[in-house]
Amino acid sequence: MNTSKTPEPAAPAGQNAAPRPAGEALLEVDGLGKHFPVTAGLLRRQVAAVKAVDGVSFSVRKGETLGLVGESGCGKSTTGRMIMRLLDPSFGRVTFEGTDITKLSQAKLRPHRRDLQMIFQDPYSSLNPRKTVGALVGAPFKLQSIQTEHGVKKAVQELLELVGLNPEHYNRYPHEFSGGQRQRIGIARTLALRPKLIIADEPVSALDVSVQAQVVNLLEDLQDELDLTYVVIAHDLSVVRHISDRVAVMYLGKIVEIADRNDLYERPMHPYTNALLSAVPIPDPAERAGRERIRLQGDVPSPMDPPPACRFHTRCWKAQDICKQVEPPLVELSPGHQAACHFPENAAAPATGLVADATAKPDD
Ligand SMILES: Nc1ncnc2c1ncn2[C@@H]1O[C@H](COP(=O)(O)OP(=O)(O)OP(=O)(O)O)[C@@H](O)[C@H]1O
Ligand code: SF4
Ligand SMILES: [Mg+2]
Repeated sequence: MNTSKTPEPAAPAGQNAAPRPAGEALLEVDGLGKHFPVTAGLLRRQVAAVKAVDGVSFSVRKGETLGLVGESGCGKSTTGRMIMRLLDPSFGRVTFEGTDITKLSQAKLRPHRRDLQMIFQDPYSSLNPRKTVGALVGAPFKLQSIQTEHGVKKAVQELLELVGLNPEHYNRYPHEFSGGQRQRIGIARTLALRPKLIIADEPVSALDVSVQAQVVNLLEDLQDELDLTYVVIAHDLSVVRHISDRVAVMYLGKIVEIADRNDLYERPMHPYTNALLSAVPIPDPAERAGRERIRLQGDVPSPMDPPPACRFHTRCWKAQDICKQVEPPLVELSPGHQAACHFPENAAAPATGLVADATAKPDD
């Protein structure tokens, strides 16, 4: 009678090969998926599943920033929460510093907990309004029994300074700060544990555009200073452009393209990435004039019943019959640049080989 009895779904076949960036991988995600059971009736029998994340693979090397982008509901936060082990994956694997943490018990996970931290979109909702900034930023030291050289107060004040806040404001309450300052408080709290990997889930989406760049710059400065590795989640490509080394684009629970930042922005291969990029405002009028805005038709289909084969085919202006029949695998089309499309754009080698392979019958 409870959903935990539901058998876990099997990983979908033919999933993405993990792109391996040069350098030491701090985080590896292999065929990771989450299907939320949908239950009905008194017995709460499973009648369907929300395929929120359906087999994503990527790795993040030490010191790198990976941007994870896609429209609302495509599975970005669910991916982040599975990496953090705030959610148990339905299938797939998360490896952190060479240790498979996917199925570690909470006790065995504890030593890794400090290393993996998350920054959330809405700093206000994660800060208890009745606690002072000093208590909020100092809480992790106490919770994790971390020794501080000159006491918790001094350590907190150093953190406040590090994130650009006045250490004298130690006794103030969250409502006395602006949105941008509150996000800085959230970041200071995250840094208290000296994490190695930070998953920032829409860290600036709730902020005024004027302060977004300041918080992004702060994250960048902290990365250099503290040797941090980031996964930055955002729904639009403009936010992650500046901060990311590589960018992965998600659509309906899958990664459709992953590449170095400049490669992705200058030579996008997947039609969905092209559509997302065409929606990014360009300040330069000359550049803007030469670009066509692609307006995606229709809504994102339901993750309970995603379209077969290429999930983007219901909205893709390039879709052919094969797109409705054969799932395009995520393949490397130029060094370090992977896309899952039968008819990619800007590809050095035309995708005809891919289409021919994909359509080949077993007895051909
Ligand atoms: N606990 C849950 N139970 C059932 N469905 C869920 C649950 N959490 C998320 N979902 C569904 O899974 C899908 C992916 O959600 P997720 O929050 O990961 O998307 P997202 O890309 O972060 O979206 P947004 O940009 O709006 O934050 C959505 O359809 C969402 O409704
Ligand atoms: S595989 Fe086909 S439908 Fe899918 S993105 Fe490529 S061209 Fe469009
Ligand atoms: Mg989200």
